[in-house]
Amino acid sequence: MPTPLRVAGRVRVPGDKSLSHRALIISALASGRSRIRGILDSADVRSTADVLRTLGVAIPSLADDMVVDGVGLRGLRGPDQALDCGNSGTTTRLMAGVVAGAGITARFTGDASLSRRPMRRVAAPLEAMGARVDLPPHGGLPMTVHGGQLHGVEWRSDVASAQIKSAVLLAALVAGVESTVDEPERSRDHTERMLAARGVTLELSGTRVHIAPGGRLDACDAVVPGDPSSAAFFAGLAAIASAGSIELPDVGINPTRTGFFEVLRRMGARVEVQEERDEGGEPTATIVAAPGELHGTTVGGAEVPTLIDELPLVACLATRAAGETVITGAAELRVKESDRIKAVVDNLRAIGADAEELPDGMRIRGGGGPLRGRVVTHGDHRLAMAFGILGAVGGNAIEVDDPACADVSYPAFWSDLARVAGA
Ligand code: S3P
Repeated sequence: MPTPLRVAGRVRVPGDKSLSHRALIISALASGRSRIRGILDSADVRSTADVLRTLGVAIPSLADDMVVDGVGLRGLRGPDQALDCGNSGTTTRLMAGVVAGAGITARFTGDASLSRRPMRRVAAPLEAMGARVDLPPHGGLPMTVHGGQLHGVEWRSDVASAQIKSAVLLAALVAGVESTVDEPERSRDHTERMLAARGVTLELSGTRVHIAPGGRLDACDAVVPGDPSSAAFFAGLAAIASAGSIELPDVGINPTRTGFFEVLRRMGARVEVQEERDEGGEPTATIVAAPGELHGTTVGGAEVPTLIDELPLVACLATRAAGETVITGAAELRVKESDRIKAVVDNLRAIGADAEELPDGMRIRGGGGPLRGRVVTHGDHRLAMAFGILGAVGGNAIEVDDPACADVSYPAFWSDLARVAGA
């Protein structure tokens, strides 16, 4: 379905958010000096830097080329104030594991959205390892983690979540005990790759990860590739354009993160991966995306964790595709920065699209007329950007209520969008 939008150019998307959190945390815990290049300087990563500072690590201001002097696995000090995690679930859950393993006590707080998100999923394995965790009755924040001398655990998580998996691995690493985590489907494996590159012994088999006891973590330089979840917005924009292409250099293409690009191809867009290489244990490439005759698709099963953060964007793009798109197996979307099933469907309907909620996903019928109206983001960065992409299509007139919330993961999003759209 042709839309009056021509795109052109090259967008260097900012550093990967998941890797930026991990590069800071793991460098802070290592023995010695690590250099980090390409870190994302955004609100969420600043939350992790601030939390580490409150625990006694001298993290400098975030910069494209920075060094972190690690304090060692037993070097964190108990905080004299709450750990404010802002909007960041990754900060909260990964640092809960670190605090538990370090044998210190800390109270975790955050903004209204983060305070509503489920923390029992991380409290339960940490308690099984011997920590004590106080949660309010609704199971969110504030949460107080009382660390101690932990013992190992064999944890079977009932959700595929890299945050839960990483919390257990980091708790075990810091405490020097062995542990195993298993999950129903494989979630992103950045923690495993980064720890292995720093001398930690891990065994991987299918959905299971085992960390050996040992308590060693070497300092190591890190290069953070561009975030595939940020690149997705511009690949999606190219897909719904009528002409042109967009080139996205230096994007991470870890297979646990690239489901969106597969889905885009399946829908009929042109997506090429060029100049593949390895950057410190993470595969990286240039992605070139161009329009195609889009048609609907189905997304579900083991594919879901590989594009969980891109599903709001898939739903928005589906309005430009012929036929129906059905997303299932994605109930986790309900506990992200907003209830992304309800919020996406409510907003799609508010602007005139044909969309319906499913308990664990959504159904979108594409091919309608121009979309017009106001989108309520609930402060959710990925909603703001997904609807921003849809708003760039000629004929659509979409107002996003809080464009600034994109700062959580992609502060330059709106200026990059203005540069490549309508060229
Ligand atoms: C993340 C894991 C995912 C993802 C989030 C970042 C991470 O969450 O949605 O944006 O960096 O580990 P879950 O672990 O809850 O699935």
